[in-house]
Amino acid sequence: MKRRDLHRLALSLALSAWAGIAPVQAAGRRPVGPLWQGFPFALGVASGQPRSDSVVLWTRLVFSEADLPQQAQAQTVLCEVFADEALRQPVRDWLVETDARRGHSVHVIATGLQPGRHYWYRFSCGSAQSVVGRTRTSPAEGERVERLRIAQASCQHFEQGYYVAHREMAQRDLDFVLFLGDYIYESTNPKYLVRKHQGVVPRTLEQYRARHAQYKGDADLRACHAAHPWVMTWDDHEVTNDYANDLEPDYSDPAIFLRRRAAAYQAYFEHMPVRIGPEPAAPHQMRIHDRMVWGQLAEVWTLDCRQYRDHQACPDPNRGGARVVVGCDALQDASRSMLGQAQEAWFMQGLLASTRRWKVVGQSTQMSSSSLATPLGRSTFNDAWDGYPLARERLLSGIAQAGLQDVLMLGGDVHMNVAAQLRVKPNDERSPAVASEIVTTSVSSRGMSETLLATIRDNNPDIRHARSDERGYTLVDIRPQGVSATFRATPHPAQTDSVLRDQARFEVLAGRAGVQAA
Ligand SMILES: [Fe+2]
Repeated sequence: MKRRDLHRLALSLALSAWAGIAPVQAAGRRPVGPLWQGFPFALGVASGQPRSDSVVLWTRLVFSEADLPQQAQAQTVLCEVFADEALRQPVRDWLVETDARRGHSVHVIATGLQPGRHYWYRFSCGSAQSVVGRTRTSPAEGERVERLRIAQASCQHFEQGYYVAHREMAQRDLDFVLFLGDYIYESTNPKYLVRKHQGVVPRTLEQYRARHAQYKGDADLRACHAAHPWVMTWDDHEVTNDYANDLEPDYSDPAIFLRRRAAAYQAYFEHMPVRIGPEPAAPHQMRIHDRMVWGQLAEVWTLDCRQYRDHQACPDPNRGGARVVVGCDALQDASRSMLGQAQEAWFMQGLLASTRRWKVVGQSTQMSSSSLATPLGRSTFNDAWDGYPLARERLLSGIAQAGLQDVLMLGGDVHMNVAAQLRVKPNDERSPAVASEIVTTSVSSRGMSETLLATIRDNNPDIRHARSDERGYTLVDIRPQGVSATFRATPHPAQTDSVLRDQARFEVLAGRAGVQAA
């Protein structure tokens, strides 16, 4: 051990005794590695899935033209965790080997941490060092916590706007970012090109990697990852628009589509601070759904609404995927599921057993109804929960029968801010509200016309607020006595310097299901 390292070890031990921090695992190891020409940490750093004693720390090495010879090699990366922003108090460090088989991504499950506090971390490899990220652990499970602050976000089409939402989130005092899907988009919408995707619509692992890397090229997005841990689920565009389980809209052979899905899931894992990657024996499967607790204040689930769902009901035979359907009998098939049987059972069991005040459910899409009355019956968009009405009813009546209070559904996907009541029978005043819903607008993806949305509002009194014309994120402030949700939004996502303002604020009071304007 070098003198400097000895000094560092001694210092860290001294400080750890003082600060009550877990001892350093292996102080002062600095791997011998390449003398880099480019910057291998250009995609930034991230953290996620916080627990009371651990968090996932992430980075991925990228190779400039001059560094390409290094790409074939395994690389050793040092990950260091500190107890202070000035990086004077090392806590632990890890040496991780990574290689091309995992896109030179690095996932460290940083364990042995203390509950409810911030940590700082960075990565080094050879001559290069990453930026410093900040993260935090969740409070101890039994702790009486007074507050949980979440930034709820989704849908960040790179071509359709700038990430001013991430710029603001990075600056805020938050416990974590809850990202609910459509992190990348596979397709191009020529209507709003403020900047362009590189390359073709991804189908292979290399193409999905390139798309993720382009998104992480955005400085505001990197800043938001470096500032807070993220808790994540995905929606369809991480693979392809409107996919459902093993089916993609153009009805390609499921075996072929599942290979594409495996490539997309692998690239997703390689770019996100998540604990678990694709299953080695079945790489088209990857568990993303998860549960975490925030002291005694809240239990938080993230649900996967894509991987296990039944195919959309009554699809267009020529062009599959989502569409608006009228008189579709298949919607009344009770066996159809949005979550798949296993996830649904796991979720309902956990929900009914939860003893924490708030049951917060992060899921990809909108749960309240947005169907329209027509002379032929209600017209229904078959991709969101409206397309799985009996699965929704099962879930909400489970909540009602158990007398569960304080269930808060947080959704994304539909590119509009929504505050809504959730009833076992949607829009039926005789059916009491049993849960509350906040859907966040998109970070950048454009929304539906306000004219259509006005019709949806008129047809669905459960929707107390809906606006599709602004982009942003939602600040969800959870306290024992109530939750406040503030929609932060801008009408100008195509301007790099636009500023968000409060569009509206809604409250949910403890012990009383339903949203109300604040
Ligand atoms: Fe989206």
